[in-house]
Amino acid sequence: AEQVAIGLLGLGTVGSGVVRMVNNHQEELQHKVGCKVIVEKVLVQDLEKERRISPEPDWLTVTPEDVLNNPRIDVVVEVMGGIELAKQYILQALRNKKHVITANKDLMALHGAELLKTAADNGCDLFYEASVAGGIPIIRTIKEGLASDRITKMMGIVNGTTNYILTKMDKQQLSFHDVLAEAQMLGFAEADPASDVEGYDAARKMAILATLGFSMDIHLDDVNVKGITGVTKEDIDYARQFGYTMKLIGNARKDDGKVEVSVEPTLLPDSHPLSSVNNEYNAVYVYGEAVGETMFFGPGAGELPTATSIVSDLVAVIRNMRLGVNGKNDVAPQYEKQLKSLDE
Ligand code: NAP
Ligand code: HSE
Repeated sequence: AEQVAIGLLGLGTVGSGVVRMVNNHQEELQHKVGCKVIVEKVLVQDLEKERRISPEPDWLTVTPEDVLNNPRIDVVVEVMGGIELAKQYILQALRNKKHVITANKDLMALHGAELLKTAADNGCDLFYEASVAGGIPIIRTIKEGLASDRITKMMGIVNGTTNYILTKMDKQQLSFHDVLAEAQMLGFAEADPASDVEGYDAARKMAILATLGFSMDIHLDDVNVKGITGVTKEDIDYARQFGYTMKLIGNARKDDGKVEVSVEPTLLPDSHPLSSVNNEYNAVYVYGEAVGETMFFGPGAGELPTATSIVSDLVAVIRNMRLGVNGKNDVAPQYEKQLKSLDE
């Protein structure tokens, strides 16, 4: 193909970043994939809204079919969030033989198996690198880079908003609510920030990581979750006096075939490598029996870091298009049971 056209579902923080990257990195993209990448249509709710970027006059639509049934679109990028509607749109796009890239962890943690199976059945790719830890390529690292190893432990800071809040409460005299408002303004928080502060966003990400890392079907219900709404400035200051830092930590362990996954506020000694991961940054520690300890660090939320993961997924989709191997991605064996129950 001389060009590949993408359709976006959503033009908020992440969607704007994707447009910016496709425009600003056109030369690199063309060099890497051998064709032009263009934005064809963008689904939004409000045509009049002021946006982070200026869309071309013919881009915006409020009609989902303009993206999902558009014969000119090869790849649909879902960056609108939410569960039911996003699922319905992604299924429709896949059935229309469009490859899909999503940043939606809520959806992947709940319906990943079904969506991946639909993608494979339709010869399409479905990639979701941006759904965990923003700009850190952790999904590819676990699925591919560490594929040969037996992973037994993962631990990390996987929510940028709560890390931003805890950092600012620790280092500046700011209240929880002021810092949350700042994180929302910067585009780190979810549409409903309760997902962030109550720990569910991190729990969804840990469920995705544990599913991939342990090759087991781990559900959200399997994750013990506690958020940071109960953490006070006094708790943080008290811990600081004794050389400890408060972090929202996701933990996943596999021992003798038994898996435990949790998310909770945790006091880390200042010497701990995760205690110096600040602001919206994330870090994921992965222990593999052969490789030993590994650690991955980078921005976990925000416009361009998240867009980097999405556009890298786009590069992977286009490379697969050139090789004619789309949809050959794994519907991993761990999903077998879940898929069987869908068939029944
Ligand atoms: P956002 O700024 O709230 O943007 C959402 C966009 O989707 C808006 O443009 C909105 O349209 C559109 N939209 C929402 N519901 C819609 C509907 N029913 N029909 C049509 N358009 C709809 O959200 P975001 O921060 O970019 O996040 C998007 C997704 O990426 C979420 O799944 C989020 O969890 C994930 N994510 C976000 C980050 C981050 O740092 N923000 C990082 C990783 C992953 P209007 O603009 O017209 O209202
Ligand atoms: N709200 C999420 C966070 C966005 O703060 O980490 C990135 O997934």
